[in-house]
Amino acid sequence: MVDLSVDIGGLSLKNPVIAASGTFGYGLEFAQYCDLSALGGLIVKGLSLHPHRGNPPPRIIETAAGMLNAIGLQNIGVDAFISQKLPRLREHSVAIIVNIFGTSVEDYVTVVRRLSEAHGIHGIEINISCPNVKEGGMIFGKDPKQAYLLTRKLRELTSLPLMVKLTPNTSHLCEVAQRVEEAGADIISLVNTFLGMAIDVETATPLLANVTGGLSGPAIKPIALRMVWEVANVVSIPVVGIGGITNAGDALEYIIAGASAVQVGTANFLNPAVCEEIIDGIEKYLRDKKISSVKNLVRSLKIPSYETTSD
Ligand SMILES: Cc1cc2nc3c(=O)[nH]c(=O)nc-3n(C[C@H](O)[C@H](O)[C@H](O)COP(=O)(O)O)c2cc1C
Repeated sequence: MVDLSVDIGGLSLKNPVIAASGTFGYGLEFAQYCDLSALGGLIVKGLSLHPHRGNPPPRIIETAAGMLNAIGLQNIGVDAFISQKLPRLREHSVAIIVNIFGTSVEDYVTVVRRLSEAHGIHGIEINISCPNVKEGGMIFGKDPKQAYLLTRKLRELTSLPLMVKLTPNTSHLCEVAQRVEEAGADIISLVNTFLGMAIDVETATPLLANVTGGLSGPAIKPIALRMVWEVANVVSIPVVGIGGITNAGDALEYIIAGASAVQVGTANFLNPAVCEEIIDGIEKYLRDKKISSVKNLVRSLKIPSYETTSD
């Protein structure tokens, strides 16, 4: 028997595989395709204080080894989630993590307050990294000071585990991570999508109505993996790796690089049972390698020293 369980920043997960926000609906939509109780956790679509219609279509484009999306955080709002979705979601034995966003600090504050009073939520993921909304979102995540102030404010309001989700669209990634840790975050997750665009050359117009969108899927994996490794080296709170994971091998790379758990996003659209397959694959790897616990694999990267030749 191998132990797949992980405890990250106050969240106890039966295994390290979590379905990523925005790619798994409110969880319930996937119940007919996979056993929600088999997952380590699931993160619901980003919620705001009021319902959001999101951006106009077209808002999804397929790209080489990935996709661009500019959904613009369409959601039913925090109150409708608590009254309509949460009671049915609670029937599944899975860690429920709620992803939230706001266009102002006050919005985030009110949403965190409402979620903290609700019953059956295991953790909150704070999205300070959405590239597809004009206000808020990524603005907080690009600037270390703003990220610090927002995290500190929300930390004061709740005892639920706080996972702060970082954007890769900044040159201050490690500094943002360190400031978020200092402000009291329990967990850091990264990455959200990379800002990108696509053009229809016949009409010379953008393929997305929003002009730009967020790139996800296998195309981003090597860059996201490098970022997770860098961040895991500069913080001491657990890091959750996200970006282009489609199989157990991808997930294991993140864990070896320093992630205590992983999130699977775009791959759910191709195969709604992919998370379960990844969990089985991690278990098989551990068994084959005779590693008793997945925790032993976290940050196990060995960097060989090569002899340099001078000529
Ligand atoms: C269609 C779509 C919607 C998304 N919505 C959200 C969201 O509401 N909140 C959030 O934090 N991330 C959102 N994301 C980002 C994903 O959770 C994830 O960070 C990103 O897609 C990278 O992982 P992947 O390559 O496995 O998809 C969304 C991604 C996609 C593709």
